[in-house]
Amino acid sequence: MIRKTTPSSPSVWRPVNLDTFLVGAPHYPEHVDESYWERDAERMAAAGFNTVRMGEFAWHIFEPREDEFDFDLFDRAIAVLGRRGIKTILCTPTATPPRWLTAHYPEVLRVDGNGRAASHGSRQHADIASPVYRLHSRRITRAMAEHYRDNPDVIGWQTDNELNTSESRSYSAATRLEFQKFLEARYKVIDALNEAWGGDFWATAYDNFDQIVLPLDHAPVFPGPGHVQDFHRFLAFSTARFQHEQVEILRAANPAWFVTHNLGRLDDIDFRGQFSKDLDFAGYDIYPLLYDEFQRNGSASQAQAFHLDLCRAFSGNFLVPEQQSGFGAQPGFVTLTPEPGEMRRMAWSSVARGADGLMFFRWRPAHFGAEIYWMGIIDHDDVPRRRYEEARQFAGETQKLAPLLLGSSVRMDVGIAGADFDNQEAHRTYPMGLPSPQDEAVMIHRYCYERGIACGFIHPEDDLSRLKLLYVPHWLIWQDGWTERLHRFAEAGGTVILSARTGSRDADNHVIREAAPGRSLAELAGVSVREFGRLVAPGADGLFASADGAPRQRFPAESARRQYTFKIGNREVTAAHMYEIVDLAEGTEVLARWSNRFLDGETAISVKPVGKGRVIYAGTYMTEALVESFFADELRQAGVAPLLDDKPAGIEVSLREGPKGRLLFVLNTTHEPVGVSGVPAGKAVVGDAAPVGGRLDLPAYGCAVLQLE
Ligand code: GAL
Repeated sequence: MIRKTTPSSPSVWRPVNLDTFLVGAPHYPEHVDESYWERDAERMAAAGFNTVRMGEFAWHIFEPREDEFDFDLFDRAIAVLGRRGIKTILCTPTATPPRWLTAHYPEVLRVDGNGRAASHGSRQHADIASPVYRLHSRRITRAMAEHYRDNPDVIGWQTDNELNTSESRSYSAATRLEFQKFLEARYKVIDALNEAWGGDFWATAYDNFDQIVLPLDHAPVFPGPGHVQDFHRFLAFSTARFQHEQVEILRAANPAWFVTHNLGRLDDIDFRGQFSKDLDFAGYDIYPLLYDEFQRNGSASQAQAFHLDLCRAFSGNFLVPEQQSGFGAQPGFVTLTPEPGEMRRMAWSSVARGADGLMFFRWRPAHFGAEIYWMGIIDHDDVPRRRYEEARQFAGETQKLAPLLLGSSVRMDVGIAGADFDNQEAHRTYPMGLPSPQDEAVMIHRYCYERGIACGFIHPEDDLSRLKLLYVPHWLIWQDGWTERLHRFAEAGGTVILSARTGSRDADNHVIREAAPGRSLAELAGVSVREFGRLVAPGADGLFASADGAPRQRFPAESARRQYTFKIGNREVTAAHMYEIVDLAEGTEVLARWSNRFLDGETAISVKPVGKGRVIYAGTYMTEALVESFFADELRQAGVAPLLDDKPAGIEVSLREGPKGRLLFVLNTTHEPVGVSGVPAGKAVVGDAAPVGGRLDLPAYGCAVLQLE
């Protein structure tokens, strides 16, 4: 029996509220002949699996014709697995409406920015803002919830599938109407909206809510940032509402069920809002070797850690409903193939970063459809090979570790402010080719990851007391209430670093009417920004960059010749992206001064002692060089030490702490054996090696979890 307790409010420190480490695979019994089913269940049980996830794309089977339900196939599949002790997480199948639905109700289709309706034949083609679609979503959810409410093998639910991952926007008539209603509820009177959006700029004011249009880029120029910000707030609201309607039905049917969602790209999801509050815990799908294709710097393992650390910031520990097991492809892209041992290592990395349950995507690959080469645990020919063996090993190990692991949280000495929807969107409404808060965070996270420093993301409203240093990566929209929390953190001995432009806009995305960083932060940091200006990115030769950050200009530009430097200690660093001239209040000291051209002698970085801690204001953006000098100095000053004294390259390290003690994860992310020395005293609970005299010899992709003394 898998039991859940009442979830506490979302926090990075919150463990999953289940008493069992769920391990298994998403499973598609509808893709094979029924003669496979017993053998599948037998093999899953032999591998030590306790859970499968099913049904997320099977609406056409659950409801072959409108209002005619047929649960036979899944009833039988759930029972076959249940007899072997394997429980089922069911999904609401709303990512793929059946053809009868899109044919009878074509108004439910998403519409793109050119007015073209999505066609049937793939997935996520329905507009989740559409009242007609929401009615069908509630209907299928209710029918499934009522049918399965007393089935002891169904333990919980996943809502939909990766909401917004393929596309979050729709420009349909329904979206427009719903957007207008959302705005009317928010602003009540049209004058308030006109003020918030700046209607006097380019005659963008409206006479009433019915006139409001959806913001289109290049129509022919840019829409206002207030308009765009509210559109994304609306999309997030509408996504949360869509899910909420399903959750209400599921919870009413059986309160013992847990409810989760498998997050993917996180577009237009308000991390800490209604969306997370409705879930027992978040699910996060992770395909580390897919990210590797999209990232220029860093490694696939760092990208995996980054995504999971970010996800943990909005609701705490999580389930991984889909963990890459093999080679994966859709017609337009392909991932690398995990080498022997790497699948298990990637799974342990997920646990090290906060997974309290994990499923390998998928039990077997499909033989038809758009993902025929998305490999699973079993191969196309129904033969279990190396991935099955690794899954079996991992499943056994997790069950051994679970009593110590469950209830623990991931240690963080360094917190990067994250998981704030308004700030993510405020950047996107007006990027000017600048790095986003997340781009800047990648650099800091990578620095810490590579050195074995416990680092993650945290929202300022969360409990900051366990951190030593908090970095705020140019959060434009600042709420004064957060300043008090930072103040208390610094007073108690913490280091706060605020970066350029933080606090320079208000909640309507207007530039504030006093000097940045605005009243409360100006007081906390003892600074006032007199002037700011744009600089080129490191290595770029112009201010215009393409979306992926690559320089677009072919000829050296004037902007590349105007480089500004500053001195920090005795090092001279070239600034990038932005400069600010910072004026200091009494009691605030200079940490770095600009050192050339007209800026020579002005303050670039300041520090103010606050209680037992410090508040630093950096009037520029981070670069690799600055992270390695300025940021590294601050880590030392804040007393941040790596988890291992002498961590070799390619070793990933993370610490989970809880009522049952401290668990140190030491994972070899390379294809060669690595010896790690200076390992703290403790015993190996699971893994490929035990420490001898403080030395741990890990084979290629080897993993060890040590219980520290
Ligand atoms: C996820 C999705 C799965 C599958 C997988 C591999 O985004 O939830 O259904 O498509 O990616 O592409």
